[in-house]
Amino acid sequence: MSHRSEFLLTSQQRARWMRFDTAQLLKRFYFCERSLLLSEASWIPAIAPLEIKISLARYVWQSAEIANSLRERVFELRFPNRLMEEEGADRALIELFDAVRDSPSVPAFLLSVGRVLLPHMRDAYQSYLTTSDLIADGPTHRFLGLALAEKTEQISAFESWIQATSSSESKEWLEASAWADEVSRRLSAACELEASPMLPTLASTPLPGAKAYSVPVHPARDTRFWPCRFYWPDIVDPSYPYGKGVQLQIRSAISHVNEVWAVEAGGIILSAFADTLPWEWVYNSARWTYDESRHCQMGYERLVAWKLDLAGIPLGTYIYESATTADVHDIPIHLLGMLFFFETKNIRHKPERTRLFHSYGDSLSEHDMDFDWADETLHASYGKRWLKELLAFRGQDPAAYDDVRRNCEKLVTDYVTTATLTEISDLKMVANCLLNKANELRRTS
Ligand SMILES: [Fe+2]
Ligand SMILES: [Fe+2]
Repeated sequence: MSHRSEFLLTSQQRARWMRFDTAQLLKRFYFCERSLLLSEASWIPAIAPLEIKISLARYVWQSAEIANSLRERVFELRFPNRLMEEEGADRALIELFDAVRDSPSVPAFLLSVGRVLLPHMRDAYQSYLTTSDLIADGPTHRFLGLALAEKTEQISAFESWIQATSSSESKEWLEASAWADEVSRRLSAACELEASPMLPTLASTPLPGAKAYSVPVHPARDTRFWPCRFYWPDIVDPSYPYGKGVQLQIRSAISHVNEVWAVEAGGIILSAFADTLPWEWVYNSARWTYDESRHCQMGYERLVAWKLDLAGIPLGTYIYESATTADVHDIPIHLLGMLFFFETKNIRHKPERTRLFHSYGDSLSEHDMDFDWADETLHASYGKRWLKELLAFRGQDPAAYDDVRRNCEKLVTDYVTTATLTEISDLKMVANCLLNKANELRRTS
């Protein structure tokens, strides 16, 4: 008697991947997303165009959301096992993803992420959605469909940045191209990510041309703006008024666009503490970084809506640089302390400014300030919680988190004293020009 006649059998493909196979694939995707977002976060300060910094912060957050969903789904599929901290059989693949963090240049980073890693993830998700079972694995389909759409959008943004800046003649772009080709070659050799739950083991040798990543001491700035360290006179001259009316509208938009430092700080601390603190840290700080990028974009959009010339808008570096003046190992904790210091310092002014903007009929500034306030209350709690956890991890007293904050305040105060007389007078001239222009626009609008 044949086996077939004894039982009810079917040739349907729904049962192609069993629960354990599915969990293996989703775990691999989680580690890929985690590695990708860590690299993107750490490169934010090194890339000059504001649009790229803001977009990278959003992609970091999107990857963190997807990674979190993947992680939770893996836990569901493997219940009650909650072990997730090891890449296991996927280690070599993840090491290749991690290697992109050591890209030798900005073009090399853009090419290897935009033309290799992201398309690879997109194809893997597409293949997974086609092959897996919509009934048994419906919960995954819901969020992975979103991940696929996001990856498609991210690829097209990276492509536009590459097209806008690439120069096939330049040595840097030729080297970047060779770098991305090598990443691609190794990735193809490494696996068929979309097809097999089990990966072959790879020998990992460093990528030729790799440059060990280090936190930039000076953040790159968009050349369309007026470059400076201190972005408004009241920072270096306490007698200069914060202002009311048009001056307050401009000052607030300048503050917002200059939150670019917070986007950069968020990216650095996220990646620096990712292997020290638990996943929830990465998840929280990805949201934190994205929120700061929205505040930065709010300021940028208001200044553009008022038709102010970007060349006359100061874009500074002083807060970021106050944190990088110290010992290299202390830079990340200082950046975290800076974020915590400025969150708690400024938050109390925001409701009053929201009310003032309402009284001016400036609904856009009112709207932006009010949403900003809601985000900042969340950030102050992130700062306190994670500083305490970081201190505890280092064997220090968690209650000393306020000392870190005070130390950061001192670092900034000391850094401000380095402002030169020429710097201050140039800054006042630029600020006054901007205020005159804003008043002129008000009269003629
Ligand atoms: Fe902010
Ligand atoms: Fe914030």
